[in-house]
Amino acid sequence: MNLSFLVQITYIVASILFAFGLKFLSSPVTARRGNLLSSTGMLLAVLATLAGQHVIGYQWILLGLVIGAVCGTFVALRAAMTQMPEMIALLHGCGALASVFVDWVHYEKLLSLPVFAIGMVEGFALFLSIVIGALTFTGSIIAWGKLSERLPGRPILFAGQQWLNFLILVGIIASGVMFLMHPQQTLFFYTFLALSALFGVLLVIPIGGADMPVVISVLNSYSGIVACTTGFVINNTLLIVVGALVGANGIILSIIMCKAMNRSLVNVIFGGFGQVQKKKLGGEKKTAQAISVEDAQLVLEAAKTVIFAPGYGMAVAQAQHAVRELTLALERNGCEVKFAIHPVAGRMPGHMNVLLAEANIPYDQLLEMEEANPLMESTDVAIVIGANDTVNPAALNDKTSPIFGMPIVEVFKARTVFVIKRSMASGFAGVENELFYYDNTRMIFGDAKDIVQKLVAEFKAK
Ligand code: TAP
Repeated sequence: MNLSFLVQITYIVASILFAFGLKFLSSPVTARRGNLLSSTGMLLAVLATLAGQHVIGYQWILLGLVIGAVCGTFVALRAAMTQMPEMIALLHGCGALASVFVDWVHYEKLLSLPVFAIGMVEGFALFLSIVIGALTFTGSIIAWGKLSERLPGRPILFAGQQWLNFLILVGIIASGVMFLMHPQQTLFFYTFLALSALFGVLLVIPIGGADMPVVISVLNSYSGIVACTTGFVINNTLLIVVGALVGANGIILSIIMCKAMNRSLVNVIFGGFGQVQKKKLGGEKKTAQAISVEDAQLVLEAAKTVIFAPGYGMAVAQAQHAVRELTLALERNGCEVKFAIHPVAGRMPGHMNVLLAEANIPYDQLLEMEEANPLMESTDVAIVIGANDTVNPAALNDKTSPIFGMPIVEVFKARTVFVIKRSMASGFAGVENELFYYDNTRMIFGDAKDIVQKLVAEFKAK
């Protein structure tokens, strides 16, 4: 068995591991196994590539490996769960940059050969790869800057923006056509490389607010597509397969997120839409009713059914372990406890599932929004913990609201609603929440973890 055959077999095994890894990631029960399988696939892929005959020296690879591993470990250890979206942006931005470098080096290698030759398909793949890779890199860096608040998070718009985008697109296509006709003319190559990098910046700056996580997912998909096209350029089947998997996954995830926010993907991508619109509740001035922890505990003590609706604030407060304790206290009291999980609660897909799984809350207690909503009317208490937009009834009944049409966890239908948050501040979409003023709603003001711990202490004191 020769080496290149062995490498190809390892690539196939790695591809299968990636496919099953992704499949397992779709459920919290199997997600850890999915991660392990995908990581093993990646390790095999790296080892097989390093063992291949194309490697001419290991010293630079080793240096890159050490620098990458140190930086990656440092960043991953430091990143809080709530910073995951920006970290993902940075990671797939780096992936896209790596693809651009591979394509670029391949082109330089072709140029250095005594006889320069590039086929039409290879040339087109190179062009696509550089364009998508460069725009994904710069777009991801802008997205990272916005999410980490190093850049203004609001959409940045200016006069003639769409025209400028159009002109740049024309420039990219024109230089691409010229490149395919005269591939040895480096000027055309550098022109579409530079224009694509600029295009990435211009594509992401007009997007902001609640649309940013969707943009991250779209860019993630682009980084898969660029790996795929790079696979065509350097004739590497593993890159083609894995790139296609990542590309397809990213798009599916983006569509799921868009549906959960009642937005269209085209709408999100083509800029200027995700503006944070502040909407004040009009009409008479209403007041929200607060309740003390002691009184809230008395209500909970009498409750037979409780549904938690967790959101971003639970993640910020890291209240999941305290919530688990409260769940146990309620169950000891004969109460049935469930969790209603909104698909975009928090700041990334599956955010709440990950947190609650970390606190060992059994998976069968986690209900998807569609399963939980029919139970709301027969629920004694719905406890909203750090959620806001995802429980805002304006999404159902206020046509003028920016979040109108977004499906919500219908906590307002429960007999009593407790909302645990620090103030009357609005959520991610910047919209005021009319739930706080409902007759059956009581606000429990404070940090989510602190309040839940106090409720647990009240149960223990009885
Ligand atoms: P949000 O609407 O973001 O509201 C979170 C609330 O948590 C805030 O109103 C805040 O109020 C409260 N909070 C913050 N820190 C807290 C703490 N330490 N203790 C208690 N409360 C705290 O949350 P959500 O309902 O989860 O909605 C998610 C939003 O993100 C939606 O608009 C969604 O469209 C958007 N989004 C999410 C995703 C994904 S994939 N998850 C993707 C795209 C967009 P106070 O400041 O008053 O405490």
